[in-house]
Amino acid sequence: MVGFGAIAAVAFAATALAAPTKQNKRQAPEGVPDYVLKYAPIVYLHSQDPYLPSDFQTHLSHSSPKVNFNTVSGPSPLNLDNLSELGSDVYLTSNDDVTTNPDWIKGIRPDSSGKTNDGITTAVVVNDKGNGNVDAFYFYFYTYNWGGLVAGIKDLNFGNHVGDWEHNMIRFSNGAPQSVWYSQHANGQAFKYSVTEKHSDSLRPIAYSANGSHAHYAIGGTHDHTIPNFNLPFGVLEDKTERGILYDPLLAAYYYKFDAASNTFSAYEEGTPTAYLDFAGRWGDQEYPTSDPRQVKVFGQAKFSSGPTGPRDKQLNRANVCPDNGNECILRGILVPRRVEDDSTIFEGDEVLR
Ligand SMILES: *[C@@H]1O[C@H](CO)[C@@H](O)[C@H](O)[C@H]1NC(C)=O
Ligand SMILES: *[C@@H]1O[C@H](CO)[C@@H](O)[C@H](O)[C@H]1NC(C)=O
Repeated sequence: MVGFGAIAAVAFAATALAAPTKQNKRQAPEGVPDYVLKYAPIVYLHSQDPYLPSDFQTHLSHSSPKVNFNTVSGPSPLNLDNLSELGSDVYLTSNDDVTTNPDWIKGIRPDSSGKTNDGITTAVVVNDKGNGNVDAFYFYFYTYNWGGLVAGIKDLNFGNHVGDWEHNMIRFSNGAPQSVWYSQHANGQAFKYSVTEKHSDSLRPIAYSANGSHAHYAIGGTHDHTIPNFNLPFGVLEDKTERGILYDPLLAAYYYKFDAASNTFSAYEEGTPTAYLDFAGRWGDQEYPTSDPRQVKVFGQAKFSSGPTGPRDKQLNRANVCPDNGNECILRGILVPRRVEDDSTIFEGDEVLR
């Protein structure tokens, strides 16, 4: 008995040492490429962020389909298997007044292992383009986005919305990670995998999720949050990130293949809901009109904006690691924060992708 226990303990220790990502691999279904798991990002949430990663179904259970603020008919109850029956004009609208901060909009606080227990908060989508070229998207879902304060002024709070899909994308070549995209509001940043900060396993790149807005950054600290066509004479909006709460997206994820030719998703595991990925409408309330007492508009910016579309709208078959959005795709070769004045600066080691 004693001998057996000792051998088992040694075997256990050896396994734990040799493969820190083993546990995660076991969670994922058969067929997901092992490198998609091995190099998956690890996220640090801000310690003061009240709005944490959220369970997809919980979001639907508290929402009703609306078009122009009127409820429209649709499947009932709404679930991840029937969401795609709703039209592209639909806004999944909160049944509660979100300004009362109902508990369900705050998501799930990850446990000490980084797991959002009892909820699926991430969708991993793999686009195999052939010839060893694979793009893996890691989509993180948050029920609520708090837009932050311009110049730290309480009355200048813009861009709050219900529903928030963010992502990293890792581009692989023959199973080796090449570059990583970090989504940040309307745009983002791309970094060579080799320069990204790594988790304790020295493999998984770290993403810092900004307090409230959940833009994902490659380094901690403060970043400029640019709003297109919106230049205030005094200060900018800032995104605050820090090594707050560890969130391991793989511990609460569904896994899919994306076929670009047919524009379809298929789950790696039977029984995984998929139809919600085909929903073309919005994952949150429509921008409240100014007649709504919750709404404030200053300098043309709304305090509450409309919820976003889902993963299908994030250019899953992009040419470069950056989505094609009219901006230059700079693949950074050094770690830099996001600064308005540096947005188009080319640093040594950077590559401009065409
Ligand atoms: C983080 O966001 C919350 C509200 O969403 C805010 O109250 C808090 O001050 C923010 N923290 C920092 C450091 O900006
Ligand atoms: C939507 O899903 C619910 C729960 O599975 C089911 O009862 C309902 O029939 C579905 N609606 C449609 C229209 O498929």
